[in-house]
Amino acid sequence: MLLPILRLDKIISDMGFASRREVKALIKSGRVLLDGIPAVSADVKCDPLNCIIEIDGERLIYREHRYIMMNKPAGFICATEDGREKTVLELLDERSRRQRLFAVGRLDKDTEGLLIITNDGDFAHRIISPKSNITKRYYARVTGELNNEDVLMVRSGLELRDGSKCLPAELVILSSGPESECEIIISEGKYHQVKRMLASLGKPVTYLKRLSIGGLSLDETLQLGGYRELKEEERALALLPGINPAN
Ligand code: URA
Repeated sequence: MLLPILRLDKIISDMGFASRREVKALIKSGRVLLDGIPAVSADVKCDPLNCIIEIDGERLIYREHRYIMMNKPAGFICATEDGREKTVLELLDERSRRQRLFAVGRLDKDTEGLLIITNDGDFAHRIISPKSNITKRYYARVTGELNNEDVLMVRSGLELRDGSKCLPAELVILSSGPESECEIIISEGKYHQVKRMLASLGKPVTYLKRLSIGGLSLDETLQLGGYRELKEEERALALLPGINPAN
């Protein structure tokens, strides 16, 4: 991968160590070493993958992009900033919060489960775009009895209450009764899609959790609100068509 030669203050602030202005002050006070020597100015340029940058003795590891898997808890919205609501970005550590990260696609405030957070716009676009046909799998609890007719209707492409048509999807009934449980696999991301699909069947959702994106499943060892870096192979999995439990 070819990376540009970048300004030292940009490299350090992009990694979330401090704001551009704070970095300048750090450099001025001799706290930044470049290849073992105190850096003399913020605008010195270097190749971030091949130079050694240390701040107060801590080695900076440069990564152009971050890819984070979070187990989203209820009560947080997926926007980058909001004056009133808590956002998922507020769950991240201070350095990550400075890295211009954003959630890939939106989960509702009350939805839990797999969320990818990144600063790689191309990667995010490939996951979200309906053209990529990347499936998203959800676990849902609903009020009402799910039945085979629901499965067939979902499979043939539901019409929502506002008249819009959904692409064919898969509904897998896990339990059926006055309260039912199911998995639902969709390949598009209309606003409140799963809730609206199940509502159109007369089965309102009482709990919703995303289980997978493409071939990437939620790491169930992550506590609600917990997160970790995605491994390279997991990033590739997220871009694969999902594994359909109905097959
Ligand atoms: N569909 C919904 O209705 N809500 C979500 O959060 C995700 C998909």
